[in-house]
Amino acid sequence: MEAHSGPTVDLMSRWNELTGETSGNEYAARFAALARSGKDVHGEARFCAALVPAGARVLDAGCGTGRVMIRLAELGYDCVGVDRDASMLAVAREQAPGLPWYQVDLTEFEPDLLGSAAGFDLVVAAGNIFPLLAESTEATVVERLAAALRPGGLMVAGFGLDAAHLPVPPSITLSEYDDYCAAAGLALVDRFATWDADPYEGGGYAVSVHRR
Ligand SMILES: C[S@@+](CC[C@H](N)C(=O)[O-])C[C@H]1O[C@@H](n2cnc3c(N)ncnc32)[C@H](O)[C@@H]1O
Repeated sequence: MEAHSGPTVDLMSRWNELTGETSGNEYAARFAALARSGKDVHGEARFCAALVPAGARVLDAGCGTGRVMIRLAELGYDCVGVDRDASMLAVAREQAPGLPWYQVDLTEFEPDLLGSAAGFDLVVAAGNIFPLLAESTEATVVERLAAALRPGGLMVAGFGLDAAHLPVPPSITLSEYDDYCAAAGLALVDRFATWDADPYEGGGYAVSVHRR
């Protein structure tokens, strides 16, 4: 992997500022309540499953409590989850102890840290990962994740762009994200307004698919 420069873990992520990295149980309880009320909480996993076949290697970047990855594993994907928040990972490990969960800061992510070579078929960053990173680490994280993909592999990221779709002030724009992707060797394939693949028409939430 190429050397990279830029800010790293010393900067506190916006997620950390928001939660103190202690909200794993509360986050899981919120989604469990949504699921009990009949709300679909598997849109992200379904979207990923439409992109790559079962058995594909998937990196869940900012996996949190494993909400997306556990579903993908149930569907037959070969998944690895990375996140830096111990409280979120504790829930993931409790819910799916047999799956590989790693406590890693995405600004420092390298596949070698997992004991595996690069070559993921899909990287998924669901749940506002990019707007929740530490300020000015976004390009570094894109570069790190892009390097984990095999040539032809896909990166999918869904995040809010305005205050109505984010728990923190809006930061990264789509054109900035596309620029970071281009610098990391990723080309935009498609963009949607939702994880149900509704067409993107300039709204406050986007799901972007880039290919290495
Ligand atoms: C809203 S949660 C989304 C969790 C999960 N992807 C989901 O959709 O349910 C955002 C996650 O991003 C993670 N995160 C933020 N900055 C990170 C960083 N620099 N390295 C690793 N994880 C990070 C947080 O720890 C948190 O678990």
